[in-house]
Amino acid sequence: MKLVCIECKKSYLAEEIRYRCDCGNLLEIISDLKKFNRSPKQWKQHFENNNSKPPFLRYKDILLPDLPDNQVILLNEGDTPLYPATKEMQEYFKITNLKLKHEGMNPTLSFKDRGMVAAVSWAKHLKVKLVACASTGDTSASMAAYAAYARIKRVVLLPEGKVSIEQLSQPISSGAITLELDTDFDGCMKLVQELTKKYPIYLLNSMNSIRIEGQKAIGIETLHQLNWEVPDWFIVPVGNAGNISALGKGLRELHELGIINKLPRLAGIEVKAANPLYISYKNNWAPLEPVQAKETVASAIQIGNPVSFKKAVRELKHFKGVMEQVSEQEVKDAKAVVDASGIPICPNSAAAMAGLKKLIDNNIIKQEESVVAIMTAHGGKFSKAVIDYHKGNNKFSNKPKSLKANLETIEETLGLK
Ligand code: F0G
Repeated sequence: MKLVCIECKKSYLAEEIRYRCDCGNLLEIISDLKKFNRSPKQWKQHFENNNSKPPFLRYKDILLPDLPDNQVILLNEGDTPLYPATKEMQEYFKITNLKLKHEGMNPTLSFKDRGMVAAVSWAKHLKVKLVACASTGDTSASMAAYAAYARIKRVVLLPEGKVSIEQLSQPISSGAITLELDTDFDGCMKLVQELTKKYPIYLLNSMNSIRIEGQKAIGIETLHQLNWEVPDWFIVPVGNAGNISALGKGLRELHELGIINKLPRLAGIEVKAANPLYISYKNNWAPLEPVQAKETVASAIQIGNPVSFKKAVRELKHFKGVMEQVSEQEVKDAKAVVDASGIPICPNSAAAMAGLKKLIDNNIIKQEESVVAIMTAHGGKFSKAVIDYHKGNNKFSNKPKSLKANLETIEETLGLK
């Protein structure tokens, strides 16, 4: 394993604590996977033989081969469900072959656990004393839990009033020093970079390349569940752009090893309130122009200056990818439809679903194509969004009814009388 600059290709030792190249660009982990000397069939057999192990260990050779097994900190992440869409979803989104990979079914209720199992294990391996991250709520929840379990001191920087109450409760309960700052996520991200540059504090945002390696497991596990049959599309919500970069890198490596024989296409979805990648896409992948991210129901992707922009664009280009943007109402309605199928998703995941609908309506995704949409967090982290929607006058509102406590009123309300 080496750390290699994504632009100038300068390389550094994987064990070096560093997030950027001397030239200022991000680094990525490059592992010599050829050293395993396995044919595509042998790779598949290897994963099969390790099927009873937790996913991080099952796929470890392709994630973090140089991490010693005795340094691994597991909280039972992964092996998340891949739900076929219900009839209601098929009708609303106008597509039949749709599956939802629900990463909200992880220990801290978001996909961040996939990257954090790798990065906190790595932190333990490096004998780090203190870890930190900026967050819109899920990274901090995940880092706090894994670092707590690894008994590493932890500090999180949150934009005050911009993360849900459930998300705020998570790092507090797992013993992190919780700093609420009067700025937005981009402001917190800037400060945590300054802090970790100045002091020996290990940065656990996705600009830490180890996080990306762990997060590759989402795509790899999905393909494994599909018996290595590649869907036509993967749909992901985009914020700081780490996840789409990880998905692309993982799938690219599977393809290079011959484990899959075709590439899916990628669709990244942003909200109109925070759409820097969408703007770049519409301008022929123009360089990043950070935007001032506005308030959105999809608060976890309220990000105007995505750190992994260049990595994401590289993957989107490689996978003939597209970007789409969605309105607040589109997000809320899509969430209500998926939730009502018994699969509670977060507003950020709902942005991906709303984007899927738009791409199908605009005939970019064809109705006969196969789609996997990545649901990034559990709906239970965003109760206020649910209550606000259903108590309001929205298309799919399911208003709770306040009644006098007697049988007659209940009978009347249920139409039994
Ligand atoms: N969905 C959820 C639920 C998220 O929490 C995030 C990012 C994303 C999507 C976007 O993923 O940043 O890799 O493009 N949350 C980060 C955080 C920023 O701090 O929890 P991304």
